[in-house]
Formats: sequence, C-alpha cells, structure tokens
Amino acid sequence: MSWLFATAYDPFMRRTERACLADWRRELLAALPAIGARVLEIGAGTGANLAFYPALERLVLSDADPHMLARLGRRPELGRAEVVRASAGDLPFDDGSFDAVVSTLVLCSVPDQAVTLGEIRRVLRPGGALVFLEHVAAEDAPSRLRWQRRIEPLWSRVAGGCHLTRDTRAAIERAGFAFEALTKESMRKALPIVRPTIRGVARKS
Ligand SMILES: C[S@@+](CC[C@H](N)C(=O)[O-])C[C@H]1O[C@@H](n2cnc3c(N)ncnc32)[C@H](O)[C@@H]1O
Repeated sequence: MSWLFATAYDPFMRRTERACLADWRRELLAALPAIGARVLEIGAGTGANLAFYPALERLVLSDADPHMLARLGRRPELGRAEVVRASAGDLPFDDGSFDAVVSTLVLCSVPDQAVTLGEIRRVLRPGGALVFLEHVAAEDAPSRLRWQRRIEPLWSRVAGGCHLTRDTRAAIERAGFAFEALTKESMRKALPIVRPTIRGVARKS
C-alpha cells in the first residue's frame, strides 16, 4: 500500500498543486530567511516543497517511508539537501539543532500528533518556528464533518494513515507553540473531505 501511495501521490495531487498548493508552499517557505538558515522538513514525501526553498545553511529532508524517500532521492532540485529516513515521532537530531521545522500535509498522518509536535519542539532552538500547512477537520461545516467522520476509517487505510478530523490548530497550541501567522483556506481542486486547511508559522514559546 505504501508503494502505491508513493507512486500515486504526485499524479493525484497535480491539479491541487496547480490550483493553490504550489502558491501556498512558495508563500510559506518565503518566511524561512527571517526565521533562520537551519531547516528540517518532516514527512517530505516526494519533495513537493523542494522547488520553493530559499538558500539555506542546512536543509534536512526526512520521511519514514522508503518508497517516498526513493522518489525524493531522484529529485534534481535536491542539491546539497540531506535526506534522512526518520519517524517524525522519534527524530534523530539533538535538542535545539534547527531554526525551523517544515510540515506540509503530514500532521494528518502521524500516529500521535502530541508526540510528533513534542519532537518538533525539542529539535527547535528557543524561539524557533514550525512552518506548517495541514488539512483539518471541517469545524465550520457540520455536514462535511459528518462525511469526514464516516469516510475516515477507509480513507486512512488507502491514504497512508491520513486522518480527516484532526484539530491540528489546537494540537499545535497544546504543544507549546504560539501562532505568528495563521490562515484558514479551502484547498481548491481537492476532494471535499480534505479541503479545509490551515497554514502559517507557529513559534516555540
Ligand atoms: C500526504 S504526504 C505529504 C508529503 C509532502 N510533505 C507534501 O507536502 O506533499 C505525507 C508524508 O508524511 C510521511 N509520514 C507520515 N507519517 C510519518 C511519520 N510518523 N514520520 C515521518 N514521516 C511520516 C509519509 O510517508 C508521507 O511522505
């Protein structure tokens, strides 16, 4: 299933990337120079963010899935970026070793958000930032939320453990981050169940 997910991911996302995701990635990663030059990306997948990174002192791209990592390793834009196989719940880095951690469409899939956010917090320097883009529960649309709840068990099995009903904004706050920027927006040209998103920058407080 993980091979299939990795193989289907880019073609499945293509229309959404063109409609909005590529612009959101560009805008988010443009915030990095003001945060710092040592950056870790978790759940980097096939490397959809690679085209949008500014010049950095250190860029580490991590993922737990070998099929995603194989695709990532073939990206011509990799340049000097390091690629590391690692679970976001157990990051093989020292405390405070990064200025920023990037997570795009990952916190929906990790087995335990609190554990992952705790690890992100640990590897960030004091005042470092989580730069995130995540699809979330449809809090403001009860009928869509009901559909998300119904479909979630099956969806999770075919979509790499992805959950549809997570309140990721609350989880980020609970983990000890303060939002510096937060945008809620519907992901265009995506399935209705994954359209509600949040993105922004949250500082380690
Ligand atoms: C939906 S894809 C998103 C890929 C990429 N970040 C993007 O924006 O297109 C989710 C990625 O998170 C990875 N992932 C899921 N759970 C993970 C975990 N616990 N640790 C590390 N990576 C994980 C998956 O292998 C997959 O590559």
